[in-house]
Amino acid sequence: MEVVIVPDAAAGGELIAEAMAALLRRKPDALLGVATGSTPVPIYEALAAKVASGAVDASRARVCQLDEYVGLPSGHPESYRSVVLRQVVEPLGLSTGSFMGPDGTADDLLAACEAYDRSLAEAGGVDIQLLGIGTDGHIGFNEPCSSLASRTRIKTLTEQTRVDNARFFDGDIEQVPHHVITQGIGTILEARHLVLLATGEGKAEAVAQTVEGPVAAVVPASALQLHRHATVVVDEAAASKLKLAPYFRATYAAKPAWQGL
Ligand code: F6R
Repeated sequence: MEVVIVPDAAAGGELIAEAMAALLRRKPDALLGVATGSTPVPIYEALAAKVASGAVDASRARVCQLDEYVGLPSGHPESYRSVVLRQVVEPLGLSTGSFMGPDGTADDLLAACEAYDRSLAEAGGVDIQLLGIGTDGHIGFNEPCSSLASRTRIKTLTEQTRVDNARFFDGDIEQVPHHVITQGIGTILEARHLVLLATGEGKAEAVAQTVEGPVAAVVPASALQLHRHATVVVDEAAASKLKLAPYFRATYAAKPAWQGL
């Protein structure tokens, strides 16, 4: 995988937004797999700015969710559907018809999981999948010891993830759902390009294990090592435990600018 160390979150957001813009210039109806949480916000802001300035036309882009809470009422402001509508679909000027996600309110959740996996394939597959990383090494909501071959399914959040996400629910862990639907690791690995952004010191240990540790289900993000086009963008703080940081810096500095991510 390629590891790119950037000075800060804004620089990471700009770099990834430019990679998305380049994709949309080559493939205007690209399927953009988006993540939620705090980390990707600078990406969405930078991409929306490019659209507003006319640097890229995103009008034909399609967007798909990585995961969703189970049991939040439809329209709940912290459901990931609401978050993606607010942070991506509306700022890019897309219609809700160009956006798909798993249905966390379905009566038959198992069928909803299978249907979502199928709909990603039927849509031609994800062109670029953005990922954040949990402090426990999760991607999507594939918590430690998720099967590396897993498909979209229901998962139970760890206590750590519920504590981490309580900030989106007025700091009240009781409001954080216990269950989620998440694309499986096997599903995520089918995207054509995986781009993981990690910022802040709190992610440094998980990043080091992901990049320099063995591929292991206990660190789900380490599955990126199995992908032929995976990019890990980290700020200085998140890179602080990488032993190979000097090598990653030198490699990226020597890369021709036209190659992009
Ligand atoms: C959210 C998701 C999660 C987050 C991760 C990091 O769609 O898939 O894996 O990316 O929990 O969250 P933040 O960015 O809030 O630290």
